[in-house]
Amino acid sequence: MTTNRNDGHHLEPRPVRESQSQMAEVVLPNDANPLGNLLGGKLMHMIDIAGALAAHRHSRSYVVTASMDHIDFLLPVHIGDLLILKSSVNRAFNTSMEVGVKCWVENYIAGTTRHVASAYLTFVAVDQHGRRHTVPAVIPETDEEKERYEDAERRREARKKETERKGAAKQIG
Ligand SMILES: CC(C)(COP(=O)(O)OP(=O)(O)OC[C@H]1O[C@@H](n2cnc3c(N)ncnc32)[C@H](O)[C@@H]1OP(=O)(O)O)[C@@H](O)C(=O)NCCC(=O)NCCS
Repeated sequence: MTTNRNDGHHLEPRPVRESQSQMAEVVLPNDANPLGNLLGGKLMHMIDIAGALAAHRHSRSYVVTASMDHIDFLLPVHIGDLLILKSSVNRAFNTSMEVGVKCWVENYIAGTTRHVASAYLTFVAVDQHGRRHTVPAVIPETDEEKERYEDAERRREARKKETERKGAAKQIG
């Protein structure tokens, strides 16, 4: 069931910058494999939290994670590294929002950063009873934001097709 939060300011379109969020964490031994590299699952957990921050800020609501797209782990992250995760809402649909999360490792001695992973996630806004509700539209302002906004629609269509394909495969199998 979907509720409509048509109560004034909740549905006013919001610029991407209002959802932009950042998390930083030093990688500790408990989060690493025996070689001293950050566990992929731990990074996925952090990506989920960073993504949820942006979705909360955009929707000013509770959210649940509906999906996380394909992730490439581009470079290993080591114990002691400073991991930075940046997120923002690319586009909002009806009750769902696509969020992009990009992760870097910052070498604070050398003053350099390396891109280590990226992911797109979809969050669905829910009220305190877990009922889905509509979310405000996103206003992309910069060229980059406009590109992500357009691409988000294409990715949504691809996700829908994949869900349909899986549904059809289940019926056959
Ligand atoms: C995500 C969830 C709310 C979708 O509910 P549903 O009843 O299947 O609803 P619908 O199919 O009508 O989809 C609702 C919205 O979610 C989107 N959605 C649903 N499944 C999706 C998926 N796999 N990927 C991306 N978006 C998805 C739909 O596109 C729709 O978006 P819109 O309202 O903006 O058009 C429901 O499946 C759920 O509660 N899942 C568990 C969430 C959770 O607990 N996450 C933490 C993991 S432990």
